[in-house]
Amino acid sequence: MKSIHSSTSYLLSDKSVMIWYGYVSVFSAEQLWELLDSDDKSRASKFQLSLDRDRFVISNTILRKLLSKYLGIEPTEIHFEHSANGKPSIAGHCEMQFTVAHSKDMMLWAFTKNSPIGIDVEHLNREVDVYSLMEHYCSPNEQAKIKGSPISEQRTSFITCWTRKEAFFKAVGCGLSFAPAQLEVSLLETESPEVLATPWLERDRNNWSLRSFDLPGCYRAAVAINAQKKNIEIVDVNNLMTTFIRRV
Ligand SMILES: CC(C)(COP(=O)(O)OP(=O)(O)OC[C@H]1O[C@@H](n2cnc3c(N)ncnc32)[C@H](O)[C@@H]1OP(=O)(O)O)[C@@H](O)C(=O)NCCC(=O)NCCS
Repeated sequence: MKSIHSSTSYLLSDKSVMIWYGYVSVFSAEQLWELLDSDDKSRASKFQLSLDRDRFVISNTILRKLLSKYLGIEPTEIHFEHSANGKPSIAGHCEMQFTVAHSKDMMLWAFTKNSPIGIDVEHLNREVDVYSLMEHYCSPNEQAKIKGSPISEQRTSFITCWTRKEAFFKAVGCGLSFAPAQLEVSLLETESPEVLATPWLERDRNNWSLRSFDLPGCYRAAVAINAQKKNIEIVDVNNLMTTFIRRV
């Protein structure tokens, strides 16, 4: 995986994955509102909390902007569709696969072609009751590994496991139709990132690649791709979206 760099192109091949990250607090939702389409505006209006609404507006505007660069069309020409489980796609552009995640101030977007992709992120200092959550979300093997880690590492191991699973479920787009404990992933720093067992056939397991990475601000993220050997680049959106209006 290449590290963050400041110059990038918007050419996306079948072999490449572009991951962008940015911080909600850098952008102004008010000034981005007009860049949304009526469907996005209607979804945004349903948020009760202004913080959630602002995050939705900012994240979706940047998503539109990035997709417009990759597809060579105007942001307003992009029409999103949603599967029964909520997985978003772009009408008329099924080759373009994308995925979105948020946690606290962090927003992430990932793009590739012709391979389902999912991404997730969590703050590493998030207060979580690891022991009670892992009983619900982790397989017996995963639970044993977390319990066997030094206490100071258990939360990080759990968050690594959690983000890899969420990324996988987002790539599949199955929502909550599978119990998370049915999926087993590696989670220790000493293990290579991989899917160890899926609710599907054993042969499907080998079609998946998983990666974890950390981002400034104490965030851990994971990406799951239904393909092998793609090059992954991670880019700071704040360096590049210079035409966007920022908070001062
Ligand atoms: C719906 C779900 C994907 C949302 O995740 P979240 O942590 O609340 O929110 P995130 O910020 O990470 O992701 C939100 C984005 O996921 C995307 N998304 C929503 N449903 C999706 C689905 N079924 N498949 C893929 N992506 C989906 C949307 O782009 C959404 O962005 P938006 O709110 O701007 O529209 C998630 O709760 C889920 O269904 N998980 C199922 C598996 C599970 O139980 N995991 C538990 C931990 S192992």
